[in-house]
Amino acid sequence: MSTELSTGPARPRAAVTVRAPAKVNLHLGVGPRRADGYHEVITVLQAVSLYDELTVTAVAPSPGTGPASAVEVTVEITGEGAAAPGSPGSADDPSVVPTGSDNLAVRAALLVAETAGLSGERIHVAMTKGIPVAAGMAGGSADAAAALVACDALWGTGLSADTLAGLAARLGSDVPFPLTGGTALGVGRGERLSPVPSVGEYHWVFALADGGLSTPAVYREFDQVDDGRTAPTPADEVLAALTTGDPQALGAALRNDLQAPAIRLRPALGDVLAAGRELGAVGALVSGSGPTTAFLALDAAHAARLAAGLAASGLARAVRQAVAPAPGATVLGS
Ligand code: C5P
Repeated sequence: MSTELSTGPARPRAAVTVRAPAKVNLHLGVGPRRADGYHEVITVLQAVSLYDELTVTAVAPSPGTGPASAVEVTVEITGEGAAAPGSPGSADDPSVVPTGSDNLAVRAALLVAETAGLSGERIHVAMTKGIPVAAGMAGGSADAAAALVACDALWGTGLSADTLAGLAARLGSDVPFPLTGGTALGVGRGERLSPVPSVGEYHWVFALADGGLSTPAVYREFDQVDDGRTAPTPADEVLAALTTGDPQALGAALRNDLQAPAIRLRPALGDVLAAGRELGAVGALVSGSGPTTAFLALDAAHAARLAAGLAASGLARAVRQAVAPAPGATVLGS
């Protein structure tokens, strides 16, 4: 006789904490601008061990209030990108995370509620950000992915992985990836993912820059010069390097078509890349649309030396070390 194990229907909880990773694009081949305004890309994404943590808490309705239909979400941010005390954050400054309805985590929560047919829910989202903001590391996307997973668990909505990935793609091109993490090939506008075999562990150093760079602005700058491409460059070299587990092979294969436009908008990024190479990085590139720069090291000790050298150069706002590939959005303490 066989016994069927069942976890039973998902049960709502009072609070859920989810951790989601940042990413670096090992390859970002950008093709022509499509009719919908997006660019066709071929990209290889790797999740790195810099995380944002979201705690979503159910808030009881205030006494005396009747049944409300709208879902209410309040947000509190600490760490990277928190607005100065007393300031609500500004849409004009991309390096400050908004706390209103333009926060991607809020939109993710509302989308889960809408998909599950919930109304009248009230939640508070406390975000602790370790991922730099508007930095080309998909921090906002990580928050959205974390919010999808956290709200699904909080409300016991039991949405499937496919449904969550579909909601993620509606929120942004980079949102599906932090759900799964690891290493993946992305096509379309970057949201259509398939897992990629990757051998070994890679040691990264990230040089953080002051302020942010707007992704649409970097794509527009790309169009100024690189218009006329017919297809994005394939990722064959990076995919082959990942099967060797050799950081030197991966370092030599790294490619980002948004690097040149990002440097045209921020010439100082070229100096940081040159400094990292001089300090012995086996690979150096702008992360996504920047302005973070990413440096590949041989091992953990090499990464520590590289990080110290970059910090001493005075060219970076801050320096972070990370290992990759990192896992995707994870519910903590369950
Ligand atoms: O998908 P997401 O909202 O994150 O994209 C932000 C912006 O980046 C888009 O509005 C578009 O200007 C640009 N983008 C693009 N091509 C892509 C991904 C993003 O042009 N494949």
